[in-house]
Amino acid sequence: MTKYQEVRQDLQGKQSTWLITGVAGFIGSNLLETLLKLNQKVRGLDNFSTGYQHNLDQVRELVGEAAWQNFSFVQGDITDLNDCQLACEGANYVLHHAALGSVPRSLEDPILTNANNVTGFLNILTAARDAKVRRFVYAASSSTYGDHPDLPKVESVIGKPLSPYAVTKYVNELYADVFARCYGLDSIGLRYFNVFGPRQDPKGAYAAVIPQWVAALIHNQVLKINGDGETTRDFCFVANVVQANILAALSDNPEAGNQVYNVALNDSTSLNQLYQMMCDLLQADYPHVLQHQASYASFRNGDIRHSQADISKARRLLGFEPTHRVDEGLHEAMEWYKKDLSGNVT
Ligand SMILES: NC(=O)c1ccc[n+]([C@@H]2O[C@H](COP(=O)([O-])OP(=O)(O)OC[C@H]3O[C@@H](n4cnc5c(N)ncnc54)[C@H](O)[C@@H]3O)[C@@H](O)[C@H]2O)c1
Repeated sequence: MTKYQEVRQDLQGKQSTWLITGVAGFIGSNLLETLLKLNQKVRGLDNFSTGYQHNLDQVRELVGEAAWQNFSFVQGDITDLNDCQLACEGANYVLHHAALGSVPRSLEDPILTNANNVTGFLNILTAARDAKVRRFVYAASSSTYGDHPDLPKVESVIGKPLSPYAVTKYVNELYADVFARCYGLDSIGLRYFNVFGPRQDPKGAYAAVIPQWVAALIHNQVLKINGDGETTRDFCFVANVVQANILAALSDNPEAGNQVYNVALNDSTSLNQLYQMMCDLLQADYPHVLQHQASYASFRNGDIRHSQADISKARRLLGFEPTHRVDEGLHEAMEWYKKDLSGNVT
């Protein structure tokens, strides 16, 4: 039995209260689905800035009415300390995921990104401290590795940030560390590397590459690959991220707390390979994909060339064992993409 199977089994028998911030977003709604299926009580906080009511509706359908009764929702903003205090009241664990993602968005509006990702983070961290939660788990980011060239990325070796977004995510780690030292708040940061899966938003200027490309392929639209397509990433299916959150929150390993961990696969997929995998998975249902040709655009400002995680620390201290490789995750997500992305996409 893996550590995750063990922890899930234990959870079924004892109910705790979890706060998920950013619950109407991509990762937040996946956390919600798993925790409700594990018979946990969940409170969610979201301001719907990049998240959607339809993500919550979809989770409701998937978990059924009985489990849904264990969910309560606070529509509020992490930039407001009162909203954070209300949301944290009575919570045993916080999984903090509310933030404004996207490197390009932060380059266009660093002040807005800072307000959400730094001021908002400090508010929720303070509220969690005051509510005496058992552990505060938060979404950190691989962008913290910045310009450091070493591969694979090891948690203790970082470079200079390459975008305002990266600064905010690094500041989160600094604040979490200082709150552990000064106030004894137990926290764990999870540095995600290009997460994908059901409910990831395909729309808008800041959409992530996988849902955007699947939508373009389904609708036979122009698909732009930035650079020559040989840029590589450690793409990580969302089920692996959910696993990391649950293990991080519940770990009783005395060495595990007040640390940051890479969450990915220690794998490397080029954008050209990713494009080919998607074409292979879609061509049976969408024969036009056989003729589809990607177009190439210039490299994007603030992007790094290669990114790959060393995940031995999460394996060793948390018992993290990814359940889905990239192709397995894509295969599993494809049913959702086909169903949800076949409508109108801009
Ligand atoms: N998706 C990835 O590949 C990735 C990689 C690294 C880190 N992360 C981090 O993981 C977290 C979740 O990302 P996601 O991909 O699910 O993004 P998402 O945009 O789908 O979800 C973020 C959610 O937070 C909510 N939110 C934003 N600002 C808020 C505020 N001020 N108050 C309340 N709610 C607010 C949004 O409405 C949304 O529902 C973020 O912190 C992000 O920076 C994601």
